[in-house]
Amino acid sequence: MTDDTIRAIAESFESAREVLVFAGSGLSAESGVPTFRGEDGLFSDEAIVELARAGILEREPKRALEWYEKGRRRIREVEPNPGHYALARLSQTADYTVATQNVDGLLERAADAESVELPVHHLHGSLDRICCRECGAEADASLDLSEMPTCEACGGLLRPDIVLFGELLPDEAFDASARAAASADVCLLLGTSGLVYPAAGLPERAAEAGAELIEINPNPTELSERCDTIVRGKTGETLPAIEAEMPSS
Ligand code: OAD
Repeated sequence: MTDDTIRAIAESFESAREVLVFAGSGLSAESGVPTFRGEDGLFSDEAIVELARAGILEREPKRALEWYEKGRRRIREVEPNPGHYALARLSQTADYTVATQNVDGLLERAADAESVELPVHHLHGSLDRICCRECGAEADASLDLSEMPTCEACGGLLRPDIVLFGELLPDEAFDASARAAASADVCLLLGTSGLVYPAAGLPERAAEAGAELIEINPNPTELSERCDTIVRGKTGETLPAIEAEMPSS
C-alpha cells in the first residue's frame, strides 16, 4: 500500500456524505475466522461446501446442526480485529451503512466497544440468531443447536438464521443495502471475493449511481476491475492506516 493511496482514500472519506461498506469474510480473517475460498478457505473441503447448501438441514440435520453449533461457539471465542475497530471509528465521519456477508457479529462488537451506532445489515444472516426451520419464528439464541432443539410455537426443528446456497436473502437487509447503494458517495469493498450474487451486485449499483468504489483486499477479485481505487493489503492494517490519515485523528 502506498501512502499516496491511503491519503487519497482518507480524502474521499473526508468529503463523503454517505458511505456503503460491502464486507466479506476477509474482514474477519485477522480475528482467526476462516474465509470461504482460497487455499485455506472452508470450501477447500467439499464436505463443508455440502453443509452450506440448502436442503442439508432436511437431509442431515444432526451433522449440519453440530457443525453450525461449532461455528457459533468459535465466533464467540474470537475477538474483533484492528480493522473492525478502525471501521467502527471511521463510521463517525459520515453516514455509514454496512452491508455484510459475514455471519459473525464482530463488527457490531467493535462498534459497541467504541460506543458507536453503526447500522449493519446481514445479507447472509447471522450465526448469533437462531430460528425455526418450519415457521421462521426467532428462538432463544442461547440454545445449543447440536441438541436439536425445537420451536416453542410449532415444534419445528430450530436452525441457524443464516442463508444457505439456494436460499433467499432476507428482504429487509437487502433492500436497506440497495437503498444505501443508490445514494452512497463512496462504496468500500472489504475482504470479499465478490463472487456471490445477488450480494455482489451492490457495488455495481453504487457505481451506477455515481459512487467511488474503493477495494481493500490483498488479492484481486471479480470486482477489482470496476474499482476506482485499490489497496492490496489486509483490512486489519489498511483501515487503521486510513484512520491515521484522517484530520480528526
Ligand atoms: P471469500 O472466501 O470468497 O473471499 C474472501 C476474500 O477476503 C478474498 O478475496 C481474500 O483475498 C480476502 N482476504 C483474505 N484475508 C484478508 C484480509 N486480512 N483483509 C482483507 N481481505 C482479505 O469470502 P466472501 O467474499 O465473504 O455465503 O464470500 C461470500 C460468500 O460466499 C459468503 O458470505 C458465503 C460464501 O458462500 C453464504 O454463506 C451464503
